Amino acid sequence: MNPVPQPIQLEARGIRKEYPGTVALKDVRVRFEGGKVHALIGRNGAGKSTLVRILAGSTQPTAGQVLLDGEPVELRSPGDAFQRGIATVYQELSLVPGLSVAENILLGRMPRSRGPFIDWTSAADQARAVLATMDVEMDVDVPVGRLGFAQQQTVEIAKAMSFRPSVLMLDEPTSGLARHETRSLFRLVGQLAEQGVAILYISHRLQELWEIADRVTVLRDGDHVATVEMAETTAEEIVHYMFGETVQKERPADLLAGREPVLEVRGLSRGEEFQDVDLTLHRGEILGIAGMLGSGRTELLKAIFGALPFDRGEIRLSETTCRRVSPPDMKDLGLGFAPEDRKQEGLVQTQSIRSNLCLASLDRISNRGFLSRRRERRLIREQVDRLHIKAPDVEEAVSSLSGGNQQKVVVGKWLGTSLQVLLLDEPTRGIDLQAKQQIFQLMWDLSRQGIAILFVSSELEELVEVCHRILVMKQGRIRQEIRPENTTADQLFVQCM
Ligand SMILES: Nc1ncnc2c1ncn2[C@@H]1O[C@H](COP(=O)(O)OP(=O)(O)OP(=O)(O)O)[C@@H](O)[C@H]1O
Ligand SMILES: [Mg+2]
Repeated sequence: MNPVPQPIQLEARGIRKEYPGTVALKDVRVRFEGGKVHALIGRNGAGKSTLVRILAGSTQPTAGQVLLDGEPVELRSPGDAFQRGIATVYQELSLVPGLSVAENILLGRMPRSRGPFIDWTSAADQARAVLATMDVEMDVDVPVGRLGFAQQQTVEIAKAMSFRPSVLMLDEPTSGLARHETRSLFRLVGQLAEQGVAILYISHRLQELWEIADRVTVLRDGDHVATVEMAETTAEEIVHYMFGETVQKERPADLLAGREPVLEVRGLSRGEEFQDVDLTLHRGEILGIAGMLGSGRTELLKAIFGALPFDRGEIRLSETTCRRVSPPDMKDLGLGFAPEDRKQEGLVQTQSIRSNLCLASLDRISNRGFLSRRRERRLIREQVDRLHIKAPDVEEAVSSLSGGNQQKVVVGKWLGTSLQVLLLDEPTRGIDLQAKQQIFQLMWDLSRQGIAILFVSSELEELVEVCHRILVMKQGRIRQEIRPENTTADQLFVQCM
């Protein structure tokens, strides 16, 4: 008879991580066990992803030890971690858009038939088998770049699962997922835990921790603040560990939308993605778009901005009617766009925080073609303060920021421009509670200045909290208009189904 296998134990002991100008982790000690879901939370920049990267072998701690089943281990590379059964799904997806689902799942390990030839049939079968263990059906031949965010996320998890890991770390897997997709992810995580996998789970959605986690560790500014059992704690207690004190602000009652239309979309259609979309955005209005993933929301926003061509219809902005649009033209007309995928479209990762924040507002700070350093510096300081971006130095590459702080830069780069209308696609993805309130506050401030906002979010509570009006989009069409004062997030959810 085989002995009963002991659940795996992964332990971080006295972990410290220094970056130039920042101490990301200070003496962190935490233990993860097989069969348990261990949540890790903390505000943006608290050090969550850094801890994950250390346990994944993709960065080295300045001090401290990692122990696996009580034995110290050296994780010098992601390969080392994989070999020891530690797999990771990072906050920023790492798929190759041009390769198929199967190729991404089996990247670097494609089965070969003879010599150098890839055995495509067996590759497709293997990929489908991994997906099947996750209860997911998907066309494994399509290029990943054509999939939506949630599906890409699923592929990323499948890729990690294909290594049959005993530890799975998920860095914010649900940010960017709508509710029903979140549910299937939870089912999957639950199943894996039952199979004895140790799960480390990062999220900014507090409520979901009670659905999924057994215990939670809270980090604050690199310090380990507490580890508590979910059954023995409350949301208030956790929020207190995360921030100290917080205030939840509500939409100011006097925030009224104007009557004057600033953006009119008429009969806009693009292939299968969306059809006959009509919408009007008034001065200072915050108009929400609710809808399931794949309902065409992202494509609609991209088409309005000129980043995707449309087949039929027209757009009227700043008294100009356009039948064909391009991003530079739309920018000139006063349109800004913060896309859903900050890594692919929102930011230039290798450039500094400063230049990313300046990209959209070059016209305002340049003086007859010359950049005014002084004006630039003032503008940047304003934006960093206004958004509470946690950055030791704005000359550092944007990639050195924590995920949530990068998201603030995506929104922040439009603040210095002369905007009429701002399109926001999932602007609060990966952002902590407090930063979220700051983004809402910013939206309300912009609204007061007369700037209209088209706001797409999968967090229905958010739409109800922030918007003047909400449109429900389903299968590429606008189906309904809803007043937030007459609805709850749950009712809105039913409308979106
Ligand atoms: N490569 C790097 N170079 C310099 N500083 C870094 C680097 N990576 C992270 N940091 C800094 O370390 C701190 C912790 O960042 P980390 O990404 O771990 O935060 P996080 O808790 O995951 O936040 P978020 O919720 O925003 O994703 C931040 O101050 C960040 O700016
Ligand atoms: Mg992070």
